[in-house]
Amino acid sequence: MTTELIDSYGRVARDLRVSLTDRCNLRCEYCMPAEGFDWLPSPEVLSDAEVTRLITVAVEHLGIREVRFTGGEPLLRKGLESIIAATTALRTDTGEVPEISLTSNALGLEHRAEGLAAAGLKRINVSMDSLDRATFAELTRRDRLPDVLAGVDAADAAGLSPIKINAVLMRGLNDDEAPELLAWALRRGFELRFIEQMPLGPPEAWKRGAMVTAEEILASLHSRFRLTPHDPRERGAAPAERWTVEPADGLPGGTVGVIASVSEPFCGACDRTRLTADGQVRACLFARSETDLRALLRDGASDEDIAELWRFAMWGKKAGHGIDDPGFLQPARPMSAIGG
Ligand code: GTP
Ligand code: 5AD
Ligand code: SF4
Repeated sequence: MTTELIDSYGRVARDLRVSLTDRCNLRCEYCMPAEGFDWLPSPEVLSDAEVTRLITVAVEHLGIREVRFTGGEPLLRKGLESIIAATTALRTDTGEVPEISLTSNALGLEHRAEGLAAAGLKRINVSMDSLDRATFAELTRRDRLPDVLAGVDAADAAGLSPIKINAVLMRGLNDDEAPELLAWALRRGFELRFIEQMPLGPPEAWKRGAMVTAEEILASLHSRFRLTPHDPRERGAAPAERWTVEPADGLPGGTVGVIASVSEPFCGACDRTRLTADGQVRACLFARSETDLRALLRDGASDEDIAELWRFAMWGKKAGHGIDDPGFLQPARPMSAIGG
C-alpha cells in the first residue's frame, strides 16, 4: 500500500536523498575542518542490504519517485553500484523506475563512471568550486583538481546526462570566479549552479554578513553574460532558480542556476526526505531531531512498520529552515553527515 509522506503543511515528499557515508576525501572549508570529523563507527552504518531495504520501503510504500545518493562522498562506498542496481529494479507508484542521481566530488569517478551508468545511474551533480588548481587546493585542502576534471570527462563519456556542476563561492577565496566557471560549463555543455553557503559546516566557517549572496553572484555573471530568467512556474520543487544564458564571445548558450537557500528560501515547495548513513530519517537539512529507522530495521520490523515510522517523522517537518530566526542553531550534525 502506498500512503504518501505528507507533512502537516501539506507538502508531499517524492525525493529521497540517501547519504551513503559521512566520510570524504576532500576537506572543503565550508564543509569540514582540516582534521575531518569523528566518522561514524562502521557497525552504525547501514549495510548495502539495509540501505536497499529502506529505499525499497520508500519507493514501494511511501510514494518516493526520485532517489539521490550523496555523502560525505558517495564514491567512497564500495557497494554504490549494487545499491544503484537494486534501486533500478524498483517501481514507483506510477509504475516507473525511480529517477536515480548522484551528488559527488568526482574523485575516483574516472574509473567508476561507466560501471555506474551500467548499474542504472542516469545523471550526476559534481561539486567543483574552482578551475584554478591553487584555489581548488586551498579551498578543498587537497591538490586534486586534475582528478576531478578527469572524473567529469569520464561521466560525460559514459553518457551521464545532464551533468550539473555545483559551486559554492567563499568570499576572498573563489568569489571572483563565477564568470570563468560559467564560461567553462557553457563550453562543456554542463549546467552550472551556484549555491549560497549554508550554516552546515564548521560553525566558524559561516557568517551571514560574509556569505556571497545570490544577488552578488548574478551581478558578477551579468558583467559578462546576458541572462534571461526561466518562467518561475517551471521550477516546481527544484532548489535552483534558472536562467538561459545567451551565446556570446564565441561561447555557446546554456543554462545557469542559483540555489539561494539562505537569501530566498524555497522550503515552501520542499519535496525531500533524507536518510543518513546510519539509518536516521531527517525531515529537513536543518531538522533538530531525527527518527531512528535502523533500530526498527535491525529489530526485524515489517516494511509497513518502517513506513509508518517514516510517515510519522515527516509529519513533524518544520515550515522552514529558520536561518534568519533569532536564536537559530545549526543542526548537531554537519552536512557531510546529513547528506547534501
Ligand atoms: P537536481 O537539480 O534535481 O539535480 O537536484 P538538487 O539540486 O537538489 O541536487 P544537489 O544534490 O546537487 O543539491 C544542490 C544543493 O542544493 C545542495 O548542495 C544544497 O546546497 C541545496 N539543497 C538541496 N536540497 C536542499 C534542501 O532540501 N534544502 C536546502 N536548503 N538546500 C538544499
Ligand atoms: N553550504 C552550501 N552548500 C554546501 N555543500 C556542502 N556544504 C555546503 C554548505 N555549507 C554543497 C557541496 C555539494 C553539495 C552536496 O552541497 O558543494 O555540491
Ligand atoms: Fe567532501 Fe562534499 Fe564536504 Fe567537500 S562539500 S568536504 S566534497 S562532503
